[in-house]
Amino acid sequence: MPATDFPNVTVIDHPLLQHKLSYIRSADTTTDNFRRLVREVASMIAYEITRDLPTEKISITTPITTFDSPVISGKKLCLVSILRAGNGMLDGMIDLLPGARVGHIGLYRDPETLEAIEYYFKLPDDIQDRLVIVVDPMLATGHSAIAALNRLKESGVNSLKLACLIAAPEGVKAMQEAHPDVPIWAGSVDSHLNDHGYIVPGLGDAGDRIFGTK
Ligand code: URA
Repeated sequence: MPATDFPNVTVIDHPLLQHKLSYIRSADTTTDNFRRLVREVASMIAYEITRDLPTEKISITTPITTFDSPVISGKKLCLVSILRAGNGMLDGMIDLLPGARVGHIGLYRDPETLEAIEYYFKLPDDIQDRLVIVVDPMLATGHSAIAALNRLKESGVNSLKLACLIAAPEGVKAMQEAHPDVPIWAGSVDSHLNDHGYIVPGLGDAGDRIFGTK
């Protein structure tokens, strides 16, 4: 199914992002370059995912004159990183959204069932009043993202988006069934998941490549 046939996904088809994503994918990319590229692409995703934020005009005095100029209005933002790979995208997003609060949800994949098991959960107190952008580089089976979104909704959040580098069709479909109200922004929707739950062609294990643990 072409990426455009998924109503819940916006693929960011920008040449700069796609160029950087190709080097992120390459097995030859070193850990330092991998981190830098993920940070840069995360900034680009932050730029696109906030495109529909509401604005209001306030009075601004330039050195020349006073006029009404737009600033962001509406809900404040919170980024929620799905540990540990989500942390690799945080800095790039915070570069663009310096006032955003940050929450963390720790989930690991049971290697047998690929189900998400929670081991850490920390959010700002006023999370329910914020627009929450969940950050996870790889939307594979969707189990982690779905579990994280379930917990966020249980915590009263009703305004949610998901940012990832690469999604698998399987994860996109699972998200559409479980959380059709949550739009996804991704650099690519790849071909499929392999028997080990890795995205093909993908980039390998995002956490290992960000933290150099392999
Ligand atoms: N998580 C990863 O880091 N990579 C994949 O391909 C799938 C899930």
